[in-house]
Amino acid sequence: MVIVSPSILSADFARLGEEIKVVEDAGADWIHIDVMDGHFVPNITIGPVVVSKIRGLTNLLFDVHLMINKPECFIDAFADAGADLLTIHVEASDDPLNIIKMIKSRSCKAGVSVKPDTPIEVLNNFMDHVDLILIMSVNPGFSGQRFIPSSLERIKKTRTLINESSNKNIHLQVDGGVTDENAKSIIKNGADVLVAGNYIFKSKDYKQAIRKLKGY
Ligand code: DX5
Ligand code: ZN
Repeated sequence: MVIVSPSILSADFARLGEEIKVVEDAGADWIHIDVMDGHFVPNITIGPVVVSKIRGLTNLLFDVHLMINKPECFIDAFADAGADLLTIHVEASDDPLNIIKMIKSRSCKAGVSVKPDTPIEVLNNFMDHVDLILIMSVNPGFSGQRFIPSSLERIKKTRTLINESSNKNIHLQVDGGVTDENAKSIIKNGADVLVAGNYIFKSKDYKQAIRKLKGY
């Protein structure tokens, strides 16, 4: 069963609340919230204030992707704001495991993400501790970029790591440039959670876009 998590970074921010309701009605499973600080990535987006304001609009899982330095300083703020899943980048900290434990202590699900140039093997350190692995298929920072084809091999390798670990329930999420044209091969290589920003929010029919990502 494929989970689709629309990235609201591509939504119309002037009508954010309405966009969330429409995408929920269209079949979204989770809501992907991209948090950027202008340091870890060259862009600034959403903070805890916005997350807390939209929390009341939906019961869908809030999938918060932290593309920020010093993520440990913001775990409490995002947990308080209503995040259900907090994903940090291995590249953003010297001690990601400690931050994952902080996330768990707040009763949130924890995810770990790697940028396209980070070796997949680093994920071995986290298999016993995370609920989700996020493979970035673009360099993080902006929506609307093209899927990097070599990501498919990285997804496949990560699926093997998960299947060989004692924690086979880890979700494998893919984020960046996901469309109806590549969704099938992304899923075939082992992903079960697709993030899509541009493809969904720039489509005329969100419902049809989500159905196409799921393969029907
Ligand atoms: C990129 C973000 C993505 C992005 C996805 O840094 O993490 O979530 O918004 O957008 P699309 O699907 O347009 O690549
Ligand atoms: Zn993201």
